[in-house]
Amino acid sequence: MENNLIKNHKVLYTMEEIQKRIKELGEEISNDYKGEELIVVCILKGAAFFTTDLVKNIDCEMIIDFMRVSSYTGTESSGIITLKQDLEEDIEGKNVLIVEDIIDTGRTLNTLKTELLNRNPKSLKVVTLLDKKERRVVDLDADYVGFSIPNKFVVGYGFDIDEKYRNIPYIGYIEN
Ligand code: IMP
Ligand code: MG
Repeated sequence: MENNLIKNHKVLYTMEEIQKRIKELGEEISNDYKGEELIVVCILKGAAFFTTDLVKNIDCEMIIDFMRVSSYTGTESSGIITLKQDLEEDIEGKNVLIVEDIIDTGRTLNTLKTELLNRNPKSLKVVTLLDKKERRVVDLDADYVGFSIPNKFVVGYGFDIDEKYRNIPYIGYIEN
């Protein structure tokens, strides 16, 4: 059933589909980091929903930390990324897994990766729930991708329009 908070949208992935894919991602990540410790870096605010579901499916010792960057106003990327909240943890010599909600132009992730690589982690990988590959302006990919999607603007399950609609319990897309 579609939410009536927001008009002109359709369901892209239901909560069942999201959880099923997250379980698979969790298994893959657990295998890759077997016996290793992890620092999971959740990129606020959008990835908070994905992160809390994902970590429950990763069978590794981990510390969860948060970082907040802002890159968007409305539905268009500004191209300027600012660091609003930094990590608490020192990541030097640690295995770091960045958890993103979506890679669109790639600018946010590019800035983040450069920033975190400067801190000399043992390893740095990225998991993103959604990937809009055709929108990329920076040449970079995630190590783990939940779903590759076409160029549509998504809402719900953490995805916002001007900070709203993050609470919609599925991923929808705006119909043009
Ligand atoms: P990028 O820097 O262009 O890759 O943008 C990444 C950020 O833009 C994400 O972390 C989201 O916050 C936001 N974003 C990109 N596409 C969408 C969308 O379809 N819906 C909601 N937010 C989006
Ligand atoms: Mg956003």
